[in-house]
Amino acid sequence: MYPERGTRADIYLPHLAHNIEVFKDLHDGPIMGVVKADAYGHGLARLTDTLKSCDALAVATIEEALQLRTFIPDKRILLLEGVFNQTELELAIEKQFDVVVHQSYQMALLSNAKYTDATLDVWLKVDTGMHRLGFEWSEYTQVLTQLQQIKMIKTIRLMAHFSQSDQINQSQTKTQINRNKQLMSHGLEYSFANTGAVLNGLACAGEWARVGLGLYGISPLLSHDAADFNLKPVMQLSAKLISIKTTNKGEPVGYGAQFVCPQDMPVGIVGMGYADGYPWSPYHSHVVIRGHHAAVIGRISMDMLAIDLSAVEQPQIGEPVQIWGAEQPVEQVAKDLHTIPYTLVCGITGRVKFHVVDSH
Ligand SMILES: Cc1ncc(COP(=O)(O)O)c(C=O)c1O
Repeated sequence: MYPERGTRADIYLPHLAHNIEVFKDLHDGPIMGVVKADAYGHGLARLTDTLKSCDALAVATIEEALQLRTFIPDKRILLLEGVFNQTELELAIEKQFDVVVHQSYQMALLSNAKYTDATLDVWLKVDTGMHRLGFEWSEYTQVLTQLQQIKMIKTIRLMAHFSQSDQINQSQTKTQINRNKQLMSHGLEYSFANTGAVLNGLACAGEWARVGLGLYGISPLLSHDAADFNLKPVMQLSAKLISIKTTNKGEPVGYGAQFVCPQDMPVGIVGMGYADGYPWSPYHSHVVIRGHHAAVIGRISMDMLAIDLSAVEQPQIGEPVQIWGAEQPVEQVAKDLHTIPYTLVCGITGRVKFHVVDSH
């Protein structure tokens, strides 16, 4: 029997369904699933049926919105960066996408549009302290008044974004919370919270919580694992052991001779490299084989990585190696590699074979 390369991502739809329910229990208000970047690398098309239990969905680009609309004809879809030009505005009207308005060029597009019978729902993005997108705190009421005069706008909602939803005691977070409270006093619907804010209890009753990372069973909080909130990882990334050798004490392993064997030791080669999405990094994490953690050693290659098999009893060629998933959360790999779980899941490349698991 010859092994296959077997580099794969298993996508657990029951876990996605479960996580949506967890957020519905946690949050007293509608859940807007954030599914930009191909559903954070999980593959949007695979998830659409399960995502229908969200109250609304949010994406970053018009292409993502159009793709989503083909699967979900009748749910609110929000363009988080709004529209960039007339063509996108017309598509948003035709396909009934909600649009964020965060800059004056978007106000101009809306004010100059002279469509009869067109309607659009708009989310006025207010910069309460993130200083990324949004109208200045000092000018948003003026913009709101202008928006209220544009005939084709059916409903205006207010939106803001936390810069540190994982830091509830930061003064910046407190300023943002106070400003959110003022935004709530307009009597309009609103949306402030992301996953971190919901998990940290910062979401306001009734608000449209924009939940991304948490839906995929991943915690953005350094202090808490997803399991602490009963969230289950939707993606399991795995590969196979394609080579096993004993390498002698003093011999280097891999490019740049960065790892030198401290003793004679079994070294495994796994079919997973940076061209699959495992990041090249000066830091190292672990993989899991039959419940044993094995340290990644040396430099990551384009197609492979090397591991220390000392802790694995009788390793076998072709054995599955979990990169992240139930036995090792992607959050842990992110911590080890000094990065964030968002980049890891978004970074999986087209070379990895996806498999949908749709029952327990
Ligand atoms: C504006 C906005 N809202 C919500 C989210 C969802 O954030 P999270 O994935 O942390 O829940 C994002 C994600 O980047 C975002 O940019």
